[in-house]
Amino acid sequence: MHAVRTHPTWSVADIPYANIEKASIQDQPDWFYLLAGASFVETLSDLYASNLVEYFQENLPATTWLNQQWEQEEVQHGLALKTYVLEVWPDFDWDRAYRRFVKAYQPYCQTDLLGPTQALEMASRCVVETGTASFYTMIQAASPEPVLRLLAGRIRADEVHHYKHFYKFFREYQRRERNSRWRIGRELWKRVSEADQEDSYLAIKSAFEVKNSGQTFSGKDFAAFRERMGDWVSRHYPFEMAIKMLLKPVSLPPALQKMALPLLKRSARRALAS
Ligand SMILES: [Fe+2]
Ligand SMILES: [Fe+2]
Repeated sequence: MHAVRTHPTWSVADIPYANIEKASIQDQPDWFYLLAGASFVETLSDLYASNLVEYFQENLPATTWLNQQWEQEEVQHGLALKTYVLEVWPDFDWDRAYRRFVKAYQPYCQTDLLGPTQALEMASRCVVETGTASFYTMIQAASPEPVLRLLAGRIRADEVHHYKHFYKFFREYQRRERNSRWRIGRELWKRVSEADQEDSYLAIKSAFEVKNSGQTFSGKDFAAFRERMGDWVSRHYPFEMAIKMLLKPVSLPPALQKMALPLLKRSARRALAS
């Protein structure tokens, strides 16, 4: 066992914001929406952290890690992205847009939405970290700007660590709960299909409506945004990595996993890139 880290391994001061090559990104509004949206969702983690800590309150190692590392790192992701966004798009009223996002999103973020059991919640957290790890892998690969590439790489490494921690906690609860493979699979599937997420929609909507005062961002606009993203997704999304991470809690027999992987990869590619 290696020692548990209890604080972030890097800080916002390590990111060379002064070296940003602004000309290569500032005229691309989709990058603005994507990064502003991500900065909101990350920053909101402090609210989510207290829900998780409450749900796992009897588990001291888990709550210590959640408070001292996970939350700190997620909030730092938010701050690092916010700093990047404001360096490149200094006119953006980040705080106003963030407040708008929190107000819209809060109803979706409650302790009674966690569960249904502790093992299954830990498995769901693995889905979320799979989503962020692969998102920043994609950002790192697609970024037209070197400082963003570096920042995305730092965040990505943290998200992979988070996944590993949640997976370890999942295994501990699972030893006691003994959920069937199918139950876990169903729970994961539920989370993946919910991944049409309210949070990214509301985050991008808030960024858009503050940036373009007086205009409303609709579900249709979001669909159009996602369609534009489709090209990046099909070129840069790490499908195989994401599917392997997703399937891990189900612990399929190796032969079955080998069979399932190319099939899932193909349908994920179709679903995400369409
Ligand atoms: Fe994060
Ligand atoms: Fe994370």
